[in-house]
Amino acid sequence: MLNTYSLTNKVAIVTGGGKGLGRTITECLLAQGMSVAICGRTENTISDTIDDLSQHYGERIWGAICDVSCAQQTEDFVKQVKNRFGDIHVLINNSGFGKETRVWETSESDWDDVMDTNVKGAFLMCKYTVPAMIANREGYIINIASQAALNGYANAGVYCASKFAMVGLGKALQEEVREYGIHVHSLNPALIQSGKLPDEPIDSGLIQNDDIADMIVYLLRQPRRLKIDNIGLWGF
Ligand SMILES: NC(=O)c1ccc[n+]([C@@H]2O[C@H](COP(=O)([O-])OP(=O)(O)OC[C@H]3O[C@@H](n4cnc5c(N)ncnc54)[C@H](OP(=O)(O)O)[C@@H]3O)[C@@H](O)[C@H]2O)c1
Repeated sequence: MLNTYSLTNKVAIVTGGGKGLGRTITECLLAQGMSVAICGRTENTISDTIDDLSQHYGERIWGAICDVSCAQQTEDFVKQVKNRFGDIHVLINNSGFGKETRVWETSESDWDDVMDTNVKGAFLMCKYTVPAMIANREGYIINIASQAALNGYANAGVYCASKFAMVGLGKALQEEVREYGIHVHSLNPALIQSGKLPDEPIDSGLIQNDDIADMIVYLLRQPRRLKIDNIGLWGF
C-alpha cells in the first residue's frame, strides 16, 4: 500500500488488554512492531499476559493494575507509560462490560459500575493521553463501542446508554483534536466470540477477536489525511 503510516516503534495503550478482545488487540499491535501498555483491575490477568507475551516481544509489552474509572489510577498509569516508553501514539479504549437487566430492574450500583467503566473510563483515558498526542501533532484513539451504541436491545439498557455515550464523547473529542492531527474512531461490533478457548470451535455467526484486531491495524495504517467513520462489524 502506498503512503501508509508505519506502526513500528509507536506506543499504544490497550485498556483491558489482559484478556478477551483486548489481549488479541495487544498481540496484534505487538506483531506490528509497536510497544503496548495494558491495564486492568485483576493482577493475575495482567501479569500472566505480560509473562506470556514478553517471551516473544520482550520489553515491548508492559502493564499495570489500573481501574479506568478511577482518575488517580488512570493519571498514574498514563504517567508510567510515558516514563516507560517515552510517548503515547495510540489509545484503544477497550475496557468495558454490561449488565443483563431490564431498565426498571437495574440497580443504581450496576448503573454506576457500567457507566463509570465504559464512559468515565474512556473519558479519563482520553483526558490524560490527549496532551501527549497534541504535543506530537498526531495520535489515534479507538473506542471499542458496539452495535449497542447504535441500537436498543432488551435487557441491555445501561450497556446501550454507556456505548451511545462513548460514541458521543468520541465524536465531540474528534471535533476538538482534528486541528492537531489526532483521529478518534469508534468501532461498532456486534457479538464477538471474545472468550473463545483454544480448543473451542469458531461460531461462524459471531465475530472473532482477530477480525476486530485486523480492523484496528487497517485503520491505524491509513494515511493521516484519510478519515474513516461508522464501521460496523457483524458475523456472517
Ligand atoms: N463480547 C462481545 O460480544 C462484544 C461486542 C461488542 C463490543 N464489545 C466490547 O468489547 C470490549 C471487550 O469485551 P470482551 O468481550 O473482550 O470482554 P472481557 O473479556 O470481559 O474483557 C473486558 C476487559 O476489560 C477490563 N475491565 C473491565 N472493567 C475495567 C475497569 N474498570 N478498569 C480497567 N479494566 C477494566 C477487564 O479486566 P478486569 O476485569 O481485570 O479489570 C477485561 O480485561 C468491551 O468494551 C465490550 O463492551 C464486546
